[in-house]
Amino acid sequence: MVILDGKKTSNDIKNEIKADVDKMKANNEKVPHLAAVIVGNDGASLTYVGSKVRACERVGFESTMVRMPNTTSEIELLDKIEELNDNDDIDGFIVQLPLPPQINTQKVLLAVNPDKDVDGFHPTNFGKMSLDMSTFIPATPFGILELMDRYGVETKGKHTVVIGRSHIVGRPMSILMGRKGFPGNSTVTLTHSHTKNITQITSQADIIITALGVPGFLKAEMVKDDAVIIDVGITRVPDESRERGYYITGDVDFDAVSKKASFITPVPGGVGPMTIAMLLKNTLLARERHRA
Ligand code: GUN
Repeated sequence: MVILDGKKTSNDIKNEIKADVDKMKANNEKVPHLAAVIVGNDGASLTYVGSKVRACERVGFESTMVRMPNTTSEIELLDKIEELNDNDDIDGFIVQLPLPPQINTQKVLLAVNPDKDVDGFHPTNFGKMSLDMSTFIPATPFGILELMDRYGVETKGKHTVVIGRSHIVGRPMSILMGRKGFPGNSTVTLTHSHTKNITQITSQADIIITALGVPGFLKAEMVKDDAVIIDVGITRVPDESRERGYYITGDVDFDAVSKKASFITPVPGGVGPMTIAMLLKNTLLARERHRA
């Protein structure tokens, strides 16, 4: 069994990006600039955005964090997005999800200039991805592809089962795994809350990608021997005995499932760090396109 070490791989990628940025600096070129908008005070979202900003510093990007109160109206957020679209200094930006209930997420995602949409959530970019056109691929699925690529996980002709159909992970993942090319060329089953007999489906899978947010959902009896297991779940479980007051766990019963798997991602230290590395990669791409 091989652990797909997202922490180490993301560090490798960040070092590669930093080398590119160092070259830009040596040539007196403008370095990539990422902005992140966060509305409200959700603890997990603040942690994620904080990690994104720190990652920018680490590779030498410029970064701007835009914090808006929980009471922000849709118009106020749309105005902010217009400002970021028009700001020539900023190469790419993200609006951290979820948004408070008074704001229509679809309207917000539509307002982002597709050329600055480094999350790849705009319908134009999602459509391009589906049509195999060059675009920004959403960072979490992109990170999973990169991790499998760097570890030489074979996907061609394999049966991939994706659990969860979110717009951020499950849906794009199901499209990408079935695309031509590597990693891809897989036969994909997308499962969700209305799927019947899920164990029957997962136990036929060569590759399982689970993005549910239900701790311990994927059990050993649901997995065949030598399956590849990608755990995208990140749940905070309250635990007073820890300094932070919680611990992080994934969707997979890791101890039992890892005994059967050929490759498996840990949580934390698997998919999570890869998401951030690929957001940086998309920002680098945005800067190259923007300055071309
Ligand atoms: N919320 C959870 N994951 C993500 C992500 O990748 N991007 C944004 N913008 N929000 C998220």
